[in-house]
Amino acid sequence: MIKTTITGMGFSVPDQIIKNEDLEEMMNTNDEWIRSRSGIEERRWVIEGEGASDLSLLASEKAMSQAGVTTDDIDMIIVGTVSSDYYFPGVAVQLQERMGMQTIGAFDIRVGCAAFIYGLSIADQYIKSGQCKTILLVGTDVLSSILEKSPAGRDVGVLFGDGAGAVILQQTENDSGILSTHLHSEGKYMRALWVEIPGSKFKDRGIRDELLEQRRHRLMMNGREVFKHAVRRFPEVIQEALDENNLTLDDIAQVIPHQANQRITEAVAKRMGVGLDLVYSNIHRYGNTTAATIPIAMCEAFEEGKFSTGDHIILAAFGSGFSWASAAIKW
Ligand code: UT7
Repeated sequence: MIKTTITGMGFSVPDQIIKNEDLEEMMNTNDEWIRSRSGIEERRWVIEGEGASDLSLLASEKAMSQAGVTTDDIDMIIVGTVSSDYYFPGVAVQLQERMGMQTIGAFDIRVGCAAFIYGLSIADQYIKSGQCKTILLVGTDVLSSILEKSPAGRDVGVLFGDGAGAVILQQTENDSGILSTHLHSEGKYMRALWVEIPGSKFKDRGIRDELLEQRRHRLMMNGREVFKHAVRRFPEVIQEALDENNLTLDDIAQVIPHQANQRITEAVAKRMGVGLDLVYSNIHRYGNTTAATIPIAMCEAFEEGKFSTGDHIILAAFGSGFSWASAAIKW
């Protein structure tokens, strides 16, 4: 039976490091508050002129090199992002052009923090059905350019960083690879974590002085609402992936959750009755990079020897939508 396996991974973050101390004056915050509420010590922010496609290109080149594939081998590009360089088209077509690929299918999916697993699920269907042999999947976001970088936005502004992670997905006939994916959403909470404009409901897409003055183009979040749902949905969707594959947490080498907040990760580990050593975290280095957290964390967890060939891992994400998802993988 054909399955989908990850044959290469890579990630890229901007060079510009923003430490908690760098935000103190800008947002009237302090290192102690940020560390204790989120676990974040620093994050990377792009500079003017640097966008999601630039980070994605570097991440993709690394993943392709690790997989030993060339641009001619790729037969589809999927990018999970809410941060296209331009309002449209998306990042995927820019990658197709910048990497000199053939005229293959290339599209973005706008799912926020769960986008990488949604993309994994889509890619898995194309590969299992035999329609594609090699897919480039990227998770990337650059939310630093829509953060309110003033004291009024400090509850959200300190949490997010920019980045990109990429994987190459290919067919395999052995017993490793993606075992299952599980996707969920609950749109009634869309306003708990959203950016209102530019939007098609508004004249001129809402790019008008009065709406900009009301900061309606900024990332808005009801942090407590997000926290409450996240700590319930993460364990639920992880359990769903375990049950589907007759696995228990004892069979899992590493759970790789979306890096939203260290307190969420700790609460999830506690609810599931596992130690923090089973649940990967690198949020202190990058903050919440939205769709990029999982592929970046997968790269680093693998490099750190947290899992290796033959191990089972679980990916899980929760975020804007609300949307949440998990995947069970045998490496
Ligand atoms: O992918 C999903 C992404 N989202 C998340 O992961 C967010 C989930 N939510 C959270 O992690 C938490 O709700 C936050 C970290 C965002 C906020 O923590 P909280 O314990 O819910 O804080 P709060 O919003 O209730 O604010 C507590 C206090 C307030 O001051 P007062 O009213 O008690 O005097 C805020 O004004 O902390 C203040 N505050 C800050 N102080 C310093 C809010 N943001 C900051 C800040 N620096 N950056």
